[in-house]
Amino acid sequence: MSATTSAIESVLVENRVFPPADAVVKAARISGMAGYEALCKEAEADFEGFWAKQARANVQWSKPFTRTLDESNAPFFRWFDDGELNASANCLDKHIGSPTENKTAIIFEADDGAVTKITYKELLARVSQFANALKAHGVAKGDRVLIYMPMTIEGVIAMQACARIGATHSVVFGGFSAKAVHERIIDAGAVAVITANYQMRGGKELPLKAIIDEALAMGGCDTIRNVFVYQRTATACNMVAGRDKTFTEALAGQSTECAPVAVGAEHPLFILYTSGSTGKPKGVQHSTGGYLLWAKMTMDWTFDLRADDIFWCTADIGWITGHTYVAYGPLAAGATQIIFEGIPTFPNAGRFWQMIERHKCTIFYTAPTAIRSLIKAAEADEAVHPARSDLSSLRILGSVGEPINPEAWMWYHKNVGGERCPIVDTFWQTETGGHVITPLPGATPLVPGSCTLPLPGITAAIVDEMGNDVPNGSGGILVIKRPWPSMIRTIWNDPERFKKSYFPEELKGYYLAGDGAVRSADRGYFRITGRIDDVLNVSGHRMGTMEIESALVAKTDLVAEAAVVGRPDDVTGEAICAFVVLKRSRPTGEEAKQIANELRNWVAKEIGPIAKPKDIRFGDNLPKTRSGKIMRRLLRSIAKGEAITQDTSTLENPAILDQLAQTN
Ligand code: WTA
Repeated sequence: MSATTSAIESVLVENRVFPPADAVVKAARISGMAGYEALCKEAEADFEGFWAKQARANVQWSKPFTRTLDESNAPFFRWFDDGELNASANCLDKHIGSPTENKTAIIFEADDGAVTKITYKELLARVSQFANALKAHGVAKGDRVLIYMPMTIEGVIAMQACARIGATHSVVFGGFSAKAVHERIIDAGAVAVITANYQMRGGKELPLKAIIDEALAMGGCDTIRNVFVYQRTATACNMVAGRDKTFTEALAGQSTECAPVAVGAEHPLFILYTSGSTGKPKGVQHSTGGYLLWAKMTMDWTFDLRADDIFWCTADIGWITGHTYVAYGPLAAGATQIIFEGIPTFPNAGRFWQMIERHKCTIFYTAPTAIRSLIKAAEADEAVHPARSDLSSLRILGSVGEPINPEAWMWYHKNVGGERCPIVDTFWQTETGGHVITPLPGATPLVPGSCTLPLPGITAAIVDEMGNDVPNGSGGILVIKRPWPSMIRTIWNDPERFKKSYFPEELKGYYLAGDGAVRSADRGYFRITGRIDDVLNVSGHRMGTMEIESALVAKTDLVAEAAVVGRPDDVTGEAICAFVVLKRSRPTGEEAKQIANELRNWVAKEIGPIAKPKDIRFGDNLPKTRSGKIMRRLLRSIAKGEAITQDTSTLENPAILDQLAQTN
């Protein structure tokens, strides 16, 4: 039995329950299941009233809203829409004049270990100054700005500065290729790019600005007027006169005061591209008011944040987790947070644990992939085991991005949490803006591998293909029946795709998450069983199979046809497996290896290194039905190394299965 099969089976029989300790319950903001249920009842009794109350308590409005939810143009829901606010003012200015102003906002640890701290007051001054620099270069409310930055204080400053002047940012993860950047610049119609000369990861200096140059040279980016370059390292990079400015040049002479621009609650705070089931990434558009409310509120609910917490979310700002739980949530909540530039395995795989000790981290939030790879490392080398570090400061642990298998959960609980820290297994998506199904640390009894119950006011359910509820214990499609404040507003430039992807007609107007799930028969706890569409989750990164297929067939001199599927992987959750038919005869042996490498590098150039297929198999053809449809479920079985037990009678070319089952 493979490790993954055993993991799935142990979830099915999972009956370990970890209730929160009495002292934790007593001290918690939402205390015990009674506290949780009271909030759920309140939301149920008066849905709009509940959200209006939360929005007034958690957000500072420059113009108060009078309408809570407008459903007249569903599914284009509007929340608090006659209210006005500024997101940056809600993260920074709000704290000025309170003791928080001199509190450390960010503890930054660089790749090489150098530590920089910045207070709220200092951060406000730097954000304001950068906002003034953007304004001086003509960036205005409603403009889009593409951000391609390393994990740095400057990355957060760039996002906050855009928010401050009402510009909509679109952050692209630093691991995406020039081609991916190019597509996003054009789709968003960005007027400026904020980047760095290089980024430091694992002791290596990796170019960022050169990739922007390459993207801009691809043509069609005439909307871009300026490129702002943060000099992260001393190495020079190409600078185009008139277009490119270093941060130092752009900031020279700019005031450190900048009045925040009030925007309507529905004003797009950001667009974040994510993978869907077609080849083209979707620009998920988020609002300002509802999104900010969620970022702030879930810091309090899910992490039960206290004034003296040292919060650390390890996600990159290029992903939604880094937006909500690095760039906005912790600041809106007035927390001290750690931002880490590097990678968990440099200079050794004990880095996370050493950093928790060094900075006395109290809330640690990371991805199952990281946990699984650090388990492996700790098992191989005792010197990087978490037991080597003092982790007694920790009080809450979190997990995000993919299902956490019970074995990894137990290891995290025991070795990192000292059997004392609740683990919040937070289920959410780029589209949900923040947590939607998650335990609350001072309330929910935990079951390893389960994200437990929806947050108050989140009407999550499991339904069949017609949108009818299925009983607990039966699997189905995860939906959210009613809108919520931080939900996706539309797909940038493609409202039709938004409707089709998330609100298919047969589902009664429910939001379709794209995941399968099952609720336990006893507690009604949710367990996510994985994507039901063509989206893969590799190391917690979302990748579309079609996106990778399009990249492969774009190598027109070599590739005739390609099909991409996921297969379970012990460390990365899923691994990308590509079946490729070449325009020439099927290669074997060394030649197959060499072509596979060439294709991997090609995909890295087309999308980014994160999309490189782990396995590439060559065939004379792909398994197809008589009508020419590729039978992906067979490919999934082959990728897993399973014997084919499915019905293959509709297959045009059954002999191909044996050929594809052979590894090169
Ligand atoms: C998966 C990341 C199980 C899920 C915040 C979802 C999870 C996709 C969990 C969204 C979890 C996220 N348990 N699966 N706790 N959290 N997922 O948009 O498949 O990068 O649809 O957002 O990750 O990925 P995204």
